[in-house]
Amino acid sequence: MRTIAVVNQKGGCGKTITSINLAAFLAREQKRVLLVDMDPQGHATLGVLSGSVGTPTMYEVFVTERGGQPTRLRDITRSARENLDVAPSDIRLSVIPERLTGVAGRETVLADNLAEVRGRYDFAIVDCPPNIGLLTLNALRACLEAIVPMDPSFFSLHGLGKQLETFDALEKQTGHRITPRALLTLYSGRTPFVRAIVDEIRSHLDGRYFETVIRYSVKLAEAASHGLPIAHYARYCAGYEDYQALTAEVLQQDAESPKRERITLADVGTARDDESGRPLTPAVTQTGVMFTLEAPDAARVQLAGDFNGWVLDGNDMNPVGRVWEKVVKLQPGRYRYRYVVDGVWQRDPRNPVVEPSSYGGHDSVLVVDEQLAEWDPTGEQKTRISA
Ligand SMILES: Nc1ncnc2c1ncn2[C@@H]1O[C@H](COP(=O)(O)OP(=O)(O)OP(=O)(O)O)[C@@H](O)[C@H]1O
Ligand SMILES: [Mg+2]
Repeated sequence: MRTIAVVNQKGGCGKTITSINLAAFLAREQKRVLLVDMDPQGHATLGVLSGSVGTPTMYEVFVTERGGQPTRLRDITRSARENLDVAPSDIRLSVIPERLTGVAGRETVLADNLAEVRGRYDFAIVDCPPNIGLLTLNALRACLEAIVPMDPSFFSLHGLGKQLETFDALEKQTGHRITPRALLTLYSGRTPFVRAIVDEIRSHLDGRYFETVIRYSVKLAEAASHGLPIAHYARYCAGYEDYQALTAEVLQQDAESPKRERITLADVGTARDDESGRPLTPAVTQTGVMFTLEAPDAARVQLAGDFNGWVLDGNDMNPVGRVWEKVVKLQPGRYRYRYVVDGVWQRDPRNPVVEPSSYGGHDSVLVVDEQLAEWDPTGEQKTRISA
């Protein structure tokens, strides 16, 4: 699943129109898409769902009322049309930053929830509010890519600089890296001034922008006001052509970039297998990364990986009921491993990420690049990240 945040702290630059229309065109290309509305204004929700939205919404995912079961993302998604689901928002989401002050793990609520549904969708498109608060931080922690829409105005270059600084700061604090690309929106192109600004923006961006430019198109606003993406509203207008072209560019990047699917610490903490509902392995515990394998009939199970030199001696797993387990303190990095069951080497059956091994067969792959992976000898996982 590709995860794309549509983000710019500047208001009114086309984030929501981009989220709605990219999501809808991707769905038309037979991609399974989840549109996540992280803005309490709820405009993305209104742009694809007609009629009253009601509850539950993203608010319930963030707040568990006393004594209640936590609501998961999969409990609140609605089908907007074929291949397009939406996780709606409503105005109550605006109290979340205050409500969750001081609550551990508040920055990764969306990341943890998205990890649980990643087998169901090809794309998650996350529409952000126009500020850098807890809700935007959640979107950034949950996504590997960002689209930064910008209208060609005098202030937009300054805004873009600020936005890129935010990504850098996030990477320094958490190790989470986002690939951003700017998208020019609301383009009139009529005046030399606007054209000069576009050139100026691009010269600063070193290729990190979309070739597609979204022109000013009144039909886009009209379509959104009817709860419809442009793809289902008006075929012959600049808005249709431009968002179709943007979608093609996004899909092209998919073909160019190496496989993005990977397991990160943030993902595996609570990720569950879509069919069985069991946790994916490996998982995060207080003391390190927990490897588990269900092998009730085995007499001996060992864990071999590049982190222990592929050595079997001393790397026995411990039987706990039907399951064998072992906790390893891993530093951030990319690791390959296999289980050795009574002498037979095998991949992790519950980790979907594999790579061909030079010895034949496949190794399982784990990327520890999220959070800190600094395991405290006292058993507490340290947290350096704050909203
Ligand atoms: N290409 C376009 N042509 C014409 N109108 C547009 C275009 N893109 C967006 N708009 C209109 O401009 C306004 C702002 O767009 P949008 O809501 O997408 O911005 P936003 O960045 O999500 O705003 P906010 O920061 O408030 O969330 C809306 O009324 C929208 O319909
Ligand atoms: Mg918006």
